[in-house]
Amino acid sequence: MLTPHHASMSATLAQIVGHQQGHHGWSQLYAALHHLHRLQHPPLRRLLETCWQRRPHISDVHLITLLSIAVRDLALRHGDHISVFRPDLTMPQRSDLLANLLTEHEDSLADAASDHSNSFTGARRFLVPQLLLGHFAARHNLTDVRYLDLGTSIGLMPRQLNSRTVFEQFAPDLTWRPGQPAYVDIPLSARYGVDAHPLPTLDWIRSCYGPSTYYQDRFSELLWSLDQTADVHVDINALNILDLPRLARHIRDRQINAVTVSMVLYQYDDITRRRVIAAVVESLTTPGILLTMEPAHGLLQPGCHIDAYLAGSHKPIPVAAVSDAHFIGHATAEPGLAHILEPTISRRSA
Ligand SMILES: C[S@@+](CC[C@H](N)C(=O)[O-])C[C@H]1O[C@@H](n2cnc3c(N)ncnc32)[C@H](O)[C@@H]1O
Repeated sequence: MLTPHHASMSATLAQIVGHQQGHHGWSQLYAALHHLHRLQHPPLRRLLETCWQRRPHISDVHLITLLSIAVRDLALRHGDHISVFRPDLTMPQRSDLLANLLTEHEDSLADAASDHSNSFTGARRFLVPQLLLGHFAARHNLTDVRYLDLGTSIGLMPRQLNSRTVFEQFAPDLTWRPGQPAYVDIPLSARYGVDAHPLPTLDWIRSCYGPSTYYQDRFSELLWSLDQTADVHVDINALNILDLPRLARHIRDRQINAVTVSMVLYQYDDITRRRVIAAVVESLTTPGILLTMEPAHGLLQPGCHIDAYLAGSHKPIPVAAVSDAHFIGHATAEPGLAHILEPTISRRSA
């Protein structure tokens, strides 16, 4: 007889095998996890129970994602376990390998899944903030943009802003409807990022990428971007953004007037999301802007919504919808985009 926790996990594992999130390489691992869970594999059961004890509010999808990342991280570091990701294995073969790995490393996997986040970091997501922050600054005659990225991972987004080379490399794969706003430099005078403790390492981020050619390509883009922007300084600090007084102080102390939060808030419930947004907009220097970029349907379907909030206002202004959270595909302008764009330089062809 399954406990309610295990019953819910079993149902989610059955679903996630076919989910969009599992494409590009994760599905086979999810299938093996599902198989072992159905067999009530003792190390897997204990491991899940340890994680639930340590993170009582974690969703099933998030825990499955984290456990899979922890397995990949371990397999990449201990070469003898990497075969668990071989694409040619049958499900029983993969389940046997996974069972051995879980038995041998139960404690360290429980630690990794309890202490870390999913830090998948997208190399193309800066394309949209580049345009929106550039136009916002131009429209308000800002000469001093003091910028902070929440949930920044290794600070890639703050590093990439104003890199025309990186922008030109990725922009052609994101088609704007009706047309891409013109590229504008952002008058950045400070670049900050925060992420949860322990700050994600490049190794951990690599493990957040699935075992497939598609993800290898995305990870190469991340490495290339880091290389291109190696001389850019970003001040990255460990800070839990749910610690609202600290978050507010962090923003006020640095006189921040532009904030992004990308693929972070979806992990939290609606009330928590609104509290974080309120703490940011109340602390921004005016004129100031917050951009939120969050998956359209949790992580279960592709797509991302981008909203803007002006300093002091809790009202979301929908500015764009992107067809894929990796920012390859289409960006469709929403009615609120006109509030942000500088009218005289609004379109690339203008
Ligand atoms: C999926 S990654 C997104 C990384 C990057 N912003 C991007 O869009 O590519 C989410 C990041 O948010 C961070 N995060 C989640 N909850 C957080 C919190 N309460 N405080 C600070 N960072 C948090 C995670 O550690 C992780 O690095």
